[in-house]
Amino acid sequence: MAQFYSFKVSQIKRETHDSVSISFDIDSKYHDDFRYVPGQYITIKVDIDGEDCRRSYSISSSITEKLTIGVKKVEGGKVSNFMNEKLSVGDYVEISAPQGNFKLENIGSQNIRKFVAFAAGSGITPILSMIKEISLREVKSEFLLFYSNKTIRDVMFQKDINLLSNENISTKFIFTREDVEKKLYNGRINEPKALELMRSEMSFLNADAFFLCGPEEMIFSSKKALESLGIDKEKIKFELFTTPVEKDEEVIVETLNEDFDGNSKVTVICDDEEVDFDLNKDGDSILDAAMEQDLDVPFSCKGAVCCTCKAKVTKGKVIMDANYALSDQEVEDGYILSCQAHPASAEVTVDFDF
Ligand code: FES
Repeated sequence: MAQFYSFKVSQIKRETHDSVSISFDIDSKYHDDFRYVPGQYITIKVDIDGEDCRRSYSISSSITEKLTIGVKKVEGGKVSNFMNEKLSVGDYVEISAPQGNFKLENIGSQNIRKFVAFAAGSGITPILSMIKEISLREVKSEFLLFYSNKTIRDVMFQKDINLLSNENISTKFIFTREDVEKKLYNGRINEPKALELMRSEMSFLNADAFFLCGPEEMIFSSKKALESLGIDKEKIKFELFTTPVEKDEEVIVETLNEDFDGNSKVTVICDDEEVDFDLNKDGDSILDAAMEQDLDVPFSCKGAVCCTCKAKVTKGKVIMDANYALSDQEVEDGYILSCQAHPASAEVTVDFDF
């Protein structure tokens, strides 16, 4: 269950014409709650014109720095525009403890590891935190980053990236709307481009992990390219930075029950409170329906990406419209993204306190 804490904004730094990095003063009594692993994110909760808006932002700092996030303006994005234009140093913002499975942990068995990352735009944020960690604690590990942007002026954290570069940490900047001398680094990262890029760095084919972070098209095309090079699926980790436009195929947690007429009695448990309501399989998501019942259920993106709304089905069956955040194992264990879940049996119990 996501709990929010109010912390003071200690620094706002303009990174590019449309992005900022924002640092927070974390009260020392909450240091344990806010301990994070590079690659994780926090959820911000702000009230904008009376609307409870929540968004997840990846942490860009190393674990020795003040907790910092990178926020790039999104066209029509209420929260990202608010954070870029209205937020000031000294303001208090509600944030949740760090979470997320996209992280530099439990990968490889030795101290000397090898990583590759493909990032685009603000997708650099968690990758920067990872690179900082490697440069601090694993000076012999190698990190190769392909970082794509429209033009040079869109590159977030350029100074930090340059300062961190050394013989083991290298970044190849790719531009889609800026000519560069080497054709290889020009153009969109689609499947052929990702293949070309990897083939130019064959010594990294045996990396311990491949991190993909950015919009959907870049993620899925580079994933395909990596798989076609024989890279084990388990080694490819990704974090979507935009809500997918097209829905994925339906993910069935369990098969539909033959006696099910579409109407379900749903029980939701959250913060030790239990609420029952009727819900049709074609109606609201279980998350929205629970919110209608005034339950303070956790959510952020509502787009199958952030995993904040994760819950466990303890009785019955559900179906999800999309899933970009849970692993196959988690789905098998009964976990769902409640923002995507609809009942698929006459009775369903969903537990947010799992
Ligand atoms: S709220 Fe982000 S995955 Fe459901």
